[in-house]
Amino acid sequence: MYPYLLFFHSVFRWLVLISLCYAVISGLLGWLRNRHYSGNDNRIRHITATISHIQLTIGYVLYFESPIIAYFRSNYDEAIKQFDLKFFGLVHIALMTVAIFVITIGSSMAKRQANDQAKFRTMTLFFAIALLIIFVSIPWPFSPLANRPYYRSF
Ligand code: HEM
Repeated sequence: MYPYLLFFHSVFRWLVLISLCYAVISGLLGWLRNRHYSGNDNRIRHITATISHIQLTIGYVLYFESPIIAYFRSNYDEAIKQFDLKFFGLVHIALMTVAIFVITIGSSMAKRQANDQAKFRTMTLFFAIALLIIFVSIPWPFSPLANRPYYRSF
């Protein structure tokens, strides 16, 4: 189960990033060009939030399956001193949970706004903040925090 979860969690990062980038760019264009907030814009908002919720769910299941996290939890005093373990045991999950909270709040606030410009503005700002937090919290091969591959196979 663990290798499959890790595979899906790794691959899903790309869907999260692509959907967020698409939503932010189309939201920004809609906002700046005073466009009408269409059914398609609403779908983009909804699908983006759903993809991030799926990744959140995979992440929480992975949390309870990962041998790294199991080690972190049972050897907390030692593990907290090693940054790689601290990153996955605390930093990654805390920042990602905050980011997806920001997406959820932004998505639900955007759909309740009174006019089209406010809908675009709310979605764009909240999703852009979440995108930034997510980008920084991914263990990219080039990240100064923790490193994992761009793609993970089974
Ligand atoms: C948008 C949200 C998230 C993204 C983009 C993301 C992305 C990633 C990536 C790329 C990895 C490295 C995978 C690999 O080793 O190939 C990873 C590892 C991990 N993630 Fe996430 N993650 C997200 C949210 C979460 C959440 C919410 C949790 C838990 C509550 C979580 C738990 C973990 C754990 C435990 C690992 C390390 C697993 C291991 O190596 O055993 N992630 N994440």
